[in-house]
Amino acid sequence: MWWKNRIAYQIYPRSFQDSNGDGIGDIPGIISRLDEIKELGVGIIWLSPVYKSPDADNGYDISDYCDINSKFGTMADMEKLFAEAAKRGIRIIMDLVINHTSDEHEWFQKSRDPASPYRDYYIWRPGKNGKLPNNWTGFFMDKAWEYDEKSGEYYLRLFDKKQPDLNYKNPKVIEEVKKILTFWLEKGASGFRCDVINIIYKTSLEDGKKSLSVQGIEHYKSQEGNHKILRELRRDVLDKYDCFTVGETVFVDLKEAKLLSDESRKELNMLFYFDHLEVDRRIAQFIPKKFRARKLLEVITKWQQGLEWNAIYFENHDQPRIVSHFGAAEKDSKYWKRSAKMLALFELTLRGTPFIYQGQEIGMTNFDFENLNELNDAMSHGLDKLMKKLCIPGFLRWNWIKASSRDNARTPMQWDESEYAGFSKAKPWLGVNGNYKKINYASQKKDPDSILNFYKAMAAVRKNSDCLIYGEFIPIYADNRLIIYQRRLKNKESQKDETYTIALNFSSRIVKIPGKFLSLFSGIPVISASGQKEFNGSLLPWDGVLVSNT
Ligand code: GLC
Ligand code: CA
Repeated sequence: MWWKNRIAYQIYPRSFQDSNGDGIGDIPGIISRLDEIKELGVGIIWLSPVYKSPDADNGYDISDYCDINSKFGTMADMEKLFAEAAKRGIRIIMDLVINHTSDEHEWFQKSRDPASPYRDYYIWRPGKNGKLPNNWTGFFMDKAWEYDEKSGEYYLRLFDKKQPDLNYKNPKVIEEVKKILTFWLEKGASGFRCDVINIIYKTSLEDGKKSLSVQGIEHYKSQEGNHKILRELRRDVLDKYDCFTVGETVFVDLKEAKLLSDESRKELNMLFYFDHLEVDRRIAQFIPKKFRARKLLEVITKWQQGLEWNAIYFENHDQPRIVSHFGAAEKDSKYWKRSAKMLALFELTLRGTPFIYQGQEIGMTNFDFENLNELNDAMSHGLDKLMKKLCIPGFLRWNWIKASSRDNARTPMQWDESEYAGFSKAKPWLGVNGNYKKINYASQKKDPDSILNFYKAMAAVRKNSDCLIYGEFIPIYADNRLIIYQRRLKNKESQKDETYTIALNFSSRIVKIPGKFLSLFSGIPVISASGQKEFNGSLLPWDGVLVSNT
C-alpha cells in the first residue's frame, strides 16, 4: 500500500511560502518549493485548506468547497500543483472540513430562511425559556449556539460563530459530501485528512454532563451514526479510487479508534489521536504538568500495539513545536539541535505513516511573541477570555497560552537569513520568529550536521527498512528520562527476525543503559542524534541512538 511506506509532509499554505509579496503564503509558493520537499524524502503532501473562505478560522471555515481562496491562487494553480507534485512522485491529500461550513457558504445563507429546502442542512433550534437550546460548550472555549436574527432561532456551532455545524441526519448533506469528494479525486487528489471527523453526527441535543472541557460531547463523539456515514463514503466514493483517508479524531480513545480505523470495518484508513502529545498536559492540551518519559512510552506503546496502522505525528498546525514541547529548546537550549534530531529518530522509527509538519525538519521552535495582541489564533483568544472570567492572573494566562497556542506552529516557514526569513518580501500575516537567522532552511541545507540533513538521513534509513515501517513495536524499558524500544520483523524468506533497538534520552544528563539491556546495544549504531559512531552504553544528553541487531 503506497500510503503505508511513504512519509507525509503537512503544508499550512498561509505560512509556507509567499510568491507575490502580499505576506501570505500561496499555491505558486508551494510549487516553487516542491524540490525541497522531494529532497526530504517525502511522498505525500497533506495540504491544509486552500478553499474559498472568509478565514474566520484560517480556512477551516469553507464558503465554497470547489473553489480556491483567491489569497492562495486559482484553480489553475491548484491543477498545476497536482501535476508538478506528480512529476516528482508526490501524491497530495486535501483537508476535508465537513463538520461545519462557513456561515458565508451559500447553503447556510439559504438555510437562514425557515422555508428553504436548505434549512435542514444545519442544526436550528428555538431557545429554551429565553436561554440557549442546551448547555453545550464549544471547542473554542465558548458557547455552542448562535442566535440568528433573520430566522429567529439558534444554530449549533461547535467552533467559531462563523462555523455552523452541518446536520448529518439529513441524507442530502451526505450526498453533497460525496460530490465534494468526487470533485477533488477527479482533479487528482489522492485522499483526505478529515477534520474533526468523529464528531459530525449529533445523536441527540440533550444537555451535556457538567464539564470544564467540551460540555455535551458525549452526545456526538464517535457515534454509531458517524460510523455509518464513514462506511457509506468509503463504499460509494472512496473505494472507487486509489486513495486513503486519515481522520483527525478528537478526544478519541483506543476502543473508538479501532472501530474507526480497523481495516475490516472500512471506515478510515488511519487516524490522528492526541494522547501522546497530552502526556504533560491537563484538561486536554492547556495546562502544563511534568513530563515523564515513562508515561510517554506507555501511551505510545498502547497506540502502536493497539491499532492495525498508525498515523504518526508530533506536530501540526494546532500543536506547539515538538522541540519546544518534548525537546530541549526551552529547557536547555544548548541541546536544541540534538534534541530535535533525537525526536526525528523517535518519530521515524515508529510503526505507521509518519507526518512531518513544515518547519519541523529544521527544528523550528515555538513563537517568541510577548503578548496576546501579536497572536491571531481564535482559540488562544477564547482561552484568554475564559480564564479572565475565572479570575486567573495575567502571567499564568500568558504562560498557558504560550504552551498551548496554535500560533506556535503557524509562524512563517524560515527559509533563509533574509528579511522575513525568505518567506515573503512583505510583512507576513503573522510575525516571523526572531530566531530565523539561527534556524533556517538555507543554512541547514549546507551543513552536513544539521537537523534537516538528519531528517533526510532518517528518511532514507526508514525507506530501506521494512522492519522500521511494518515491524512490530516492542517496549523494553523507560524511566523519567530514558526510553528503550525495539522494532522487529520476521523476514519471510530467511525466517529470521530483523530487529532494531532504539534508545532516547529526554534529559540534559548522561544516562546509562541499565545493565540487563546492554547486550541489545552491542550492534553498530546505524545512526545517532549526537553523531557518535560507537555506543558505549551511556547516552549523551538528549541523544537518541538506533542500533541494528541483525
Ligand atoms: C481541526 C483543525 C483546526 C480547526 C478545527 C475546526 O481541529 O485542525 O485547525 O480550527 O478543526 O475546523
Ligand atoms: Ca501570497
